[in-house]
Amino acid sequence: MSQSLQNRNVVLGVTGGIAAYKSADLVRRLRDAGAEVRVVMTPAACEFVTPLTFQAVSGNPVHTSLLDEQAEAAMGHIELARWADVVLVAPATADFLAKLAQGRADDLLSTLCLATRAPLLVAPAMNSVMWENRATQDNVALLVRRGVRMLGPGVGDQACAETGYGRMLEPLELVEEVSRGFGPRVLDGVTVMITAGPTREHLDPVRFISNRSSGQMGYAMAAAARTAGADVLLVSGPVRLAVPEGVEYESVESAVEMHDAVMARIADVDIFIGVAAVADYRPVRPKPRKIKKDEARLDVSLERNPDILRDVASRPNGPFTVGFAAETHDLEANALDKLQRKRLDMIAANLVARGGLQDAVGFDASENALEVFWPGGQLSLERGPKTILAKQLVELIARQYRGQHPVRPRAVS
Ligand code: PMT
Repeated sequence: MSQSLQNRNVVLGVTGGIAAYKSADLVRRLRDAGAEVRVVMTPAACEFVTPLTFQAVSGNPVHTSLLDEQAEAAMGHIELARWADVVLVAPATADFLAKLAQGRADDLLSTLCLATRAPLLVAPAMNSVMWENRATQDNVALLVRRGVRMLGPGVGDQACAETGYGRMLEPLELVEEVSRGFGPRVLDGVTVMITAGPTREHLDPVRFISNRSSGQMGYAMAAAARTAGADVLLVSGPVRLAVPEGVEYESVESAVEMHDAVMARIADVDIFIGVAAVADYRPVRPKPRKIKKDEARLDVSLERNPDILRDVASRPNGPFTVGFAAETHDLEANALDKLQRKRLDMIAANLVARGGLQDAVGFDASENALEVFWPGGQLSLERGPKTILAKQLVELIARQYRGQHPVRPRAVS
């Protein structure tokens, strides 16, 4: 194995799950890759594997308690938090993810995670039903938006005799992911602009026409692009989501405002991704005062909004332009039509019909499934959490973009 982690300090947090037995091998693999490893265990982790095992494989004392005078005297938790180039929690239980999401600090590992400025990588491992639970998915989405990198979980047979997502990634996969954080990233030096959320088209000061977009897909794309190394500008309609760590943000309300905000900055953008559900029409004459219900019938006349995506894609020397297509039927035909008509470099299409299974994906859901098309290619991204799909889609976009704009090796003087 290459020494990809040479001279890197890794704090490995181990929480109380059956996958903890694999973490001893993980320590060995991290050290093989050149890393210095210090292990922090939660009390529950000590029920699965003894600290002595980790001490033997890491070659360092193991930290288990916030209130251990001896350990604090040797290397206190703040010192440990500063020492780390990266903090990896593997395995991370559902309980620990909840604790991280709440920002709690009631044991050594959670305190250290709050106290460190190092990148935080988390390898979830749990029963697949627990992983799919809405509470866990909400915690994961929140952590990803804050910049925490989720490594897995993988899919397959589990210790609890279930099959599905929830397995901790294998130690070698985890070492590769940790190493990747220190190497060049796929979107280093690239500026990405993303639109997200709905727009609101006002009828009067208190009423508007809008749609069910929650912003989750767009915000997940922003977080994934940032993690991939890009400078990210997120132009968002009204949503109730926290802006992902490190992402520049502009808030807008209507389609015209979104169009203006995008066009004002587009000249400096390398990749544009239109995830927003932009209203196609707006009231011709919004009323300055609240409409009274005096009439038996109210006719509202609508006019077309600017098409932001088309205007971006048609710019001379414009950015690499990716659209989304929200369809209730004929997904492929409609997406291909939009790809060609709007002259896009790529389009990601999703079904958004209401009723039955469809309610669980698309608009206002934590999961999605995407059919991605580009001139000469297509790929299905199977149903899964939006945070994971966003990561896969950003990698695909980066590959296509790099095909057109290869990174030039630096000249050696
Ligand atoms: O926000 P979530 O709840 O997570 O839901 C995610 C999503 C379903 C909103 C998202 O995955 C999605 O499909 N976004 C595109 C929604 C949409 O408006 O699709 P469309 O087929 O009507 O538009 C096609 C493309 O043109 C989109 O990239 C859209 O941003 C863009 N567009 C549309 C109209 C317009 N006036 N200007 C635009 O830029």
